[in-house]
Amino acid sequence: MMDPLSITVSSIALLQACNAVLNICYNAYEILKDRPGAISKVQDEVRGLRGVLEDLFQLAIDDEKLNGYHGRKPALKVLAQSQAEKGPLVLCSEDLGALEKILSAKFTKEPGSKLRAVLQAVSWSLTEKEIKPILERLARSKAALNLAISADEVALLLELSKMSSSMANDVVNIDRNLAELTSQLSDQNMSQAQERILKWLSPIDPWESYTSAVHRCHDGTGLWFLESKEFRDWRDKSGRNLWLSGFPGSGKTTLLSNVIRHLIQWAEQDEIHHPMIAYFYCDFRNSKSQTLANLLGSIIRQVLRKGGAIPSLVEDAFSTSTGAGHNREPEVEFLLKVLELVSCEGRIVVLIDALDEIEDRAESLSFFRDVQQTMRNISFLVTSRDEQEIRQNLVGFRNIRIEDQVTEVDGDIAKYTNYRLQTDPSLQWLNADIKDDISKSMQKQASGMFRWVQCQLDTLSKLRTVKAIRQSLKELPHDLYETYDRILARISPADHEFARRVLLWVSFAAAPLTLKELHTAIAIETDMDYLDEESLLHDPSDILSLVSGLIAITDKGYVTIAHMSVKDYLLSPKTRSSQVTSSFALTAKGSNALLCQYCLAYVSFAHFRQGPSKTSEDFLEREEKHPLLRHAALSWPYYYRLAIRNEDLTTSAMQFFSEGGDRKLFMSWVQAINADSLSYWNFYPRHATGLYYAATFGLTDVVDQLIKSGANLNAPGSRYGGTPLHGAVWRNHVPAAKLLLEAGADVDKLDTHRMSPLHLAGVTNNDRMTKLLLSFSANTEITDFKGRKPLEIYASRSKRTGWEAHPPGQSRAKGK
Ligand SMILES: *[C@@H]1O[C@H](CO)[C@@H](O)[C@H](O)[C@H]1NC(C)=O
Ligand SMILES: *[C@@H]1O[C@H](CO)[C@@H](O)[C@H](O)[C@H]1NC(C)=O
Repeated sequence: MMDPLSITVSSIALLQACNAVLNICYNAYEILKDRPGAISKVQDEVRGLRGVLEDLFQLAIDDEKLNGYHGRKPALKVLAQSQAEKGPLVLCSEDLGALEKILSAKFTKEPGSKLRAVLQAVSWSLTEKEIKPILERLARSKAALNLAISADEVALLLELSKMSSSMANDVVNIDRNLAELTSQLSDQNMSQAQERILKWLSPIDPWESYTSAVHRCHDGTGLWFLESKEFRDWRDKSGRNLWLSGFPGSGKTTLLSNVIRHLIQWAEQDEIHHPMIAYFYCDFRNSKSQTLANLLGSIIRQVLRKGGAIPSLVEDAFSTSTGAGHNREPEVEFLLKVLELVSCEGRIVVLIDALDEIEDRAESLSFFRDVQQTMRNISFLVTSRDEQEIRQNLVGFRNIRIEDQVTEVDGDIAKYTNYRLQTDPSLQWLNADIKDDISKSMQKQASGMFRWVQCQLDTLSKLRTVKAIRQSLKELPHDLYETYDRILARISPADHEFARRVLLWVSFAAAPLTLKELHTAIAIETDMDYLDEESLLHDPSDILSLVSGLIAITDKGYVTIAHMSVKDYLLSPKTRSSQVTSSFALTAKGSNALLCQYCLAYVSFAHFRQGPSKTSEDFLEREEKHPLLRHAALSWPYYYRLAIRNEDLTTSAMQFFSEGGDRKLFMSWVQAINADSLSYWNFYPRHATGLYYAATFGLTDVVDQLIKSGANLNAPGSRYGGTPLHGAVWRNHVPAAKLLLEAGADVDKLDTHRMSPLHLAGVTNNDRMTKLLLSFSANTEITDFKGRKPLEIYASRSKRTGWEAHPPGQSRAKGK
C-alpha cells in the first residue's frame, strides 16, 4: 500500500507506471504494424492519464509548498484519504500493473521469433477483450482525478462512493479466454505448405465468429439445453441430427456458441473416444461465410487440422486448381467427396449456426437432406429460423423449438440481465432497488427475446438519471421492430440522409466495410467526379453514434449491422408503410442499384481519368487517398448484376466497358481490380478489353450490347491471354458464354498456358459449360501446357463418377 497521504509520491510512481506501459505499446505497435489502430486505444487512454497525473502532481507539489506536507486543498485531502481504501490512485496503480503484465507477456521483443509475432497478432482480439475492462476502469479513475484537480470535492466524494460499490471484476472471464486461446493454438502445428492448402479449402475461419459470440455467453446459461436428453443422446450416439429452431433474436447464436464451448472442453477430456468437433457460422456480416462450398471447406479444414495430415486427393486438387497463376476455389462436389472420405475415419460432430442464411438455399439445403444416408459418421446440430423450406429439407433432424422453451430461455435472460447490471459500468452504479425494477420489467416482457432485452439494457445504460430510467421502464417497446422504430425516430432530421446511407451500405455491401471506407462511401455524390471534402462527417466514429443500436463494429474494425433482425426490419413492409420510418426502408434490388451508382461514380472520379499509376508510390498514395477504391472497383459489377435495371445504369455500364469509352479511366479500374496486394500494383493486362471483363463478371446484358456494337470477340483480355469466352467459362457464366459462342467467338482459342475454354470447363468441373462448348464443336484433342486433353482434366477431377459414366448434361446427383 502506498503512503496514505502523499499524493506527490503516488503520482510519481504512477507516472513511471504509465511510461512503462507506453514503452511496451511502442513495441506492440511494431508487431501489430498492419493494424495500426489496434494499440492506439491503450496509448490514448494511458497518455490521457499521464497528462492528468502531471497536473495532479503539480497541484499537490504547490499545495505542499504552501501548506506543508499534509496540504490544505479539500479535494486533495479527500483524494489522499481515499488511498486507505480502493481510491482512484490505488486503482490506477493496480490497473496499470495489470496492463503492463498482459502487454509485456505478449509484446516484449524477443529476437528471431517470427512465430511469436504471428501468435501475437492472432491473439490480439483476445488481448483486446482482456484489457477492455481495465481501460474502462482507468477512464473512470481518471475522471475522479480530474474532479480532484478541479477542486470539486463534493462531486469527488460522490464519485468515490459509486466506485467503491462497483468493484466487479472479470477475472473469471480472463482465465476462460486464455484457456480457449491455448486450446486453439495447440493444434496449429502444420507446415506452411499444408497451411496454404487448408486455407484454400476455405477462406473462412469460424474462430472469429465463435469468440465474439462466446463472449456474450454467461456462466450457467443454456443449461436447459446442455442437460437435455436430446442433446446428450445426440452428443453420445451416432446417427442423430438436431435442429434448433427459433425466431430472430431468441439467442440461437449465443446458445450454439455455448454448446461449442461445452463440447470443446468435453472432447479434450478423452481425445480418443470422443468425436471431433467442427463448427461453422453462416454469418450475415460476411457473405463469404454464406456459401455451401466455404461451409464444407471449413469443416474439412478443421478436421484435417486436428488430424494433422492432408489426404493426397486434396493435395492433388490443390495443385491443379492453383497451378500456373490460376486460383480456383474448390467445388462443392469435390468437397463432398473429401468430407465423405474423412468421415470414414471416425465420428465428427458438426455445429452450424444460422443455416437460413446460406446462399443458393435450394441446392445447399438438399445437401442436408442427402447427407444422412451418405455420411453416417457425421452428426449435425444446426440452428435456423423455423421456415417451411428448411423444415422440408431437414427431414430426420430432431427439431427443438425455442418457442417451446420460453420459460427456460427467460431463466437465461434473467442471468444475463443480472450480469449486465453488475458489470456494465454505466448500469452498475444504480442502487439495488432500481436494479430490481429493471430485472422485473425485463423478465415480464422478454418472452424469450434475448435481443430485445439487450437493446433495452443498451438504451437504459445511456440514461443519466434514475428518474429517466423509471420513466423509460414504463414505456418499454413491445417488440424488436418497435425498438428499432424508436431508434430511427430519435435521429434528428439533419442526420437523416447520413443515417439512411449508413444503413444502406452496411445492409447491402458486398464485403464488410471499415469505418474509414464507410466514412468515404456515405459522402459520395453521384453527380460529382471528386469527393467533396466538405460533405465528409468531421469524425468517422460519429457514424457509430448516428444509428447506434442498429450497427456495430467488429473486433477487426468492420462496421456491420448489429443483428440480422435489423436488416429484416429495414426490408419489412411495416417499415415502408409507417410515416416515421418509411424513408429508411430498403429493398434488395433498389439498394443494389444505388450502391452500383455510388461505386461507379467513385471509380469514375476525375483523378482516375489520368490513367493507371506508374509507380508503386503513386499507387499507394492513390489507395490511401481513395480508401473505397478497391471495394468500389471490385463490387460495382456485382451490385450491377443484382440491381434492378434502369436505363441510366445500363448506359453507364455500357459506356464504361465500350471500346469508345474513356480508355485511361478503364485502365485505372483494371489496375485496381488486379492489385490483390501492393506488390501486384503493376501486374495487370495492358491489353484488357471491356468485353473480357463484362463476360468475366457475367454482365449478360452488357455482353450482349457490346457484341452488337461490334466488339472484337477473340481479343485476349486477361493477364494470361484469355479471351472473353475464357473469362465467362472460368467464372461459370453460362449465359454470357452462350452469347459469345452464338456470336461466333472462337471456341478453341488458347491462352498463354495453352488452355482452351474446354480445358477450363474441365478444371471448373462444370457440366453445363462443357456441354455447351461441345455443342459448339470444341476440340477435345488439344493438349495444354501439361500435355492434358480437356476431358482428361475433367475425368481426373471427377474420380468416382468418371467421365464415361456421366456424359455432360446428365446431372450427377450429389453425394453418390
Ligand atoms: C509440432 O511439430 C513439432 C515438429 O514437427 C513436433 O516436434 C511436435 O511434437 C509437434 N507438436 C504437437 C503438439 O503435435
Ligand atoms: C465410421 O467410423 C468408423 C471408425 O470409427 C469406421 O470404421 C466406419 O467405417 C465409419 N462408417 C462410415 C459409414 O463411414
